[in-house]
Amino acid sequence: MARILITSALPYINGIKHLGNLVGSMLPSDVYARFERARGNEVVFICATDEHGTPAELAAHTADQKIEEYCAEQHDVQARAGEAFGLSFDYFGRSSYQSNHDLTQHFAAVLEKNGLIEERVDEQVYSVDDARFLPDRYVEGTCPNCDYEKARGDQCDNCGRLLDPVDLKDPYSAVSGSRNIEIRKTRHLHLLQSKLQDRIEKWVESHPLWPQLTKSIALKWLKEGLRDRSITRDLQWGVPVAHHGKTRPGFENKVFYVWFDAPIAYIAATKDWGDKTGADWESWWREDKGAGDVTYVEVMGKDNVAFHTVSFPCTLLGSQEPWKTVDTLKSLNWLTWYGGKFSTSEGRGIFMDQALEILPADYWRWYLMANAPESDDTSFTLESFAATVNKDLADVLGNFVNRITRFCKSKFGEQIPAGGETGPVEEKLFVELDNRIAAYTGNLAQMEFRKACAELRAIWAAGNEYLQEAAPWAVFKKDPEKAAVSVRIGLNLIRLFGVLSQPVIPFTSEKLLAIFGDQSTDWPQGKATELLATLRPGTRFTSPEVLFSKIEDEQVAEWKEQFGAP
Ligand code: 2FM
Ligand code: ZN
Repeated sequence: MARILITSALPYINGIKHLGNLVGSMLPSDVYARFERARGNEVVFICATDEHGTPAELAAHTADQKIEEYCAEQHDVQARAGEAFGLSFDYFGRSSYQSNHDLTQHFAAVLEKNGLIEERVDEQVYSVDDARFLPDRYVEGTCPNCDYEKARGDQCDNCGRLLDPVDLKDPYSAVSGSRNIEIRKTRHLHLLQSKLQDRIEKWVESHPLWPQLTKSIALKWLKEGLRDRSITRDLQWGVPVAHHGKTRPGFENKVFYVWFDAPIAYIAATKDWGDKTGADWESWWREDKGAGDVTYVEVMGKDNVAFHTVSFPCTLLGSQEPWKTVDTLKSLNWLTWYGGKFSTSEGRGIFMDQALEILPADYWRWYLMANAPESDDTSFTLESFAATVNKDLADVLGNFVNRITRFCKSKFGEQIPAGGETGPVEEKLFVELDNRIAAYTGNLAQMEFRKACAELRAIWAAGNEYLQEAAPWAVFKKDPEKAAVSVRIGLNLIRLFGVLSQPVIPFTSEKLLAIFGDQSTDWPQGKATELLATLRPGTRFTSPEVLFSKIEDEQVAEWKEQFGAP
């Protein structure tokens, strides 16, 4: 039994997440966690809301709420939405919890002890009218790189460049809109990443199996040379720049930068999980306390990769403490909304709560994973969503289950019929399934989700093709024993589909397995011949309701209107 620690990138607290966020980290990590659990591995799957930094403060400001209140409320909203989507986190924590304050301050202290932190005076954007500094997203202006007029201080959404707020042209305050801006000096802690260049380079080289997208981003940053970066900000909300309860002199009005404390929250949330369940959390994170045999897997969107291949490793390795670092890092491209951006701030696209008001989670889970933006950005359209659902879920999987249970019920009653021996048509099916199940298992193990879903779809389709060929409805009149064989195989296929589909569409899987009473979701071991003989003749079943309803063109038109699709 392997031990696998899985973290999903932590969703920002600023409002419920859209489908692009969902498929960018939480959903793929969930599919992987479910798969590894089904294989019998010991999994700890951690996520949390990322609550500090300017996005949170700005959103609370817009909502006219106290930041603590806003975060508590939004955390619950996100936790509920995650649960409704079947996200099987062992723990869904909060980066604002005390555990993360403590650990963040701990890391800052050891990094400083190791000569990797220095106080430096920086130039920062200051708003005279707001009487405050404007870090990161508090300032907007024209991108020095592409001239986009609504670039944010930390990043330009148009060209994707990371920015330094002082480089924006024509800056204005995101709080008040004021253009009465000065550049003022302010003192900050800097993490001396340049000193860790060799260490990080060696560490990256020791992971030859990282996927292409991950590796190329890491190498790009290393090639440019790691730069020292400021890890504190002039803000109120965040982890105080203190240690053992004592504020660092001169840092009374400052907190750690959100990107310093957020990844540390992976560890803090695991600790909170341990405290809650009594589990030994350190055995997952500390090499000296048993984490030597843990495989640590991170899942995230591509904009997060640099922070996880360079910044967070600087924190962990720079501490010179035996913390576990990432082994496998899966990164995804963007899901776009009709080729444009999903946007939280502008409410563009479909959000998790809205999606579930329209259709059950598995419809979305299937579409999103079957079209996961792995090798490239992928465009979400309601048209392709409807086409995929209708074709794969309704016509292939749903139709199969419906056909075989109904036919059996009418001819043999609601139990697995006894019957004769399998023949060449079954043999052909067995061979195909053996190959496809092996491929599907391999794809999931590699976190190649699109390929995995294509394989799963082909497995469902193999069931339909088999029924087509065996044609029990035609055979029944002349040879009911022979028809009974294909019905028995068909019903066993439903159970097998239930097991294999569990990581991707867990709610449907539950329904499929419930047809035969409670069935185990343990990953299939052995050959198709045995797998399709699991349910013995005489086993009773309950015919299910229609599993998936088709999406009509009128519905698509209605939703396009509702969500303002182009
Ligand atoms: O990009 C984001 O959505 C960030 N909130 C991800 C943080 S991941 C981790 F480091 F916390
Ligand atoms: Zn730009």
